[in-house]
Amino acid sequence: MKGKMNLIVMGPQGVGKGAQSDDLAGIYGIPHISTGEIFRKNIAEKTELGKKVSSYIEKGELVPDEVTSAMVFDRLSQPDARKGWILDGYPRNARQSEALDEWLSKHGERLDAVILLEADADTIARRIQKRIREEGRSDDNPDAIAERLAIYARETKPLIDYYSQKGLLRRVNAEGSVPKVTAAMREAIEK
Ligand SMILES: Nc1ncnc2c1ncn2[C@@H]1O[C@H](COP(=O)(O)OP(=O)(O)OP(=O)(O)O)[C@@H](O)[C@H]1O
Ligand SMILES: [Mg+2]
Repeated sequence: MKGKMNLIVMGPQGVGKGAQSDDLAGIYGIPHISTGEIFRKNIAEKTELGKKVSSYIEKGELVPDEVTSAMVFDRLSQPDARKGWILDGYPRNARQSEALDEWLSKHGERLDAVILLEADADTIARRIQKRIREEGRSDDNPDAIAERLAIYARETKPLIDYYSQKGLLRRVNAEGSVPKVTAAMREAIEK
């Protein structure tokens, strides 16, 4: 694999961003940075950040942009991120994508690709049901899921156009198995 690789993985709740990002991060040897996972770890460990964000997450609302962006930029500045990174769950709205652009230019870095994972509504519903059975996330209740999907449609989806106009968007069919989708992601990134 060539040098540094800075990637964003986008897509609706339950499409498989976490599983695919883990797989790809292992292959490229770069960290998978999931904002949701970092928040959940902080909540479990009862840190100050965890206390600050738990009520937003329980309701399926976005954590305030300043809090989220500061956390992401701190993580991107860690030594293991020098080789590159895969961002999952960030940016989620226009303010966050603008903040990321500023951070990138300030640090002389750029994005290599923004991968949009796509699947049928049925597939996504099935994957969320499976996660509810297996993981028991406190925000995987019907009200919080509905709120997250509404925020995705209203605030996150417009980023598809934003990255498309920059020539960075790669659409990938996420219907298949994890290894199959990973192979499709690699092809989209490396071609
Ligand atoms: N970029 C962000 N900005 C604001 N809040 C965020 C951000 N990323 C995560 N969060 C908070 O963490 C919660 C969980 O995010 P996470 O990405 O794990 O779940 P999700 O939206 O259901 O997607 P997925 O199905 O991929 O896990 C969000 O509902 C939100 O409260
Ligand atoms: Mg996830």
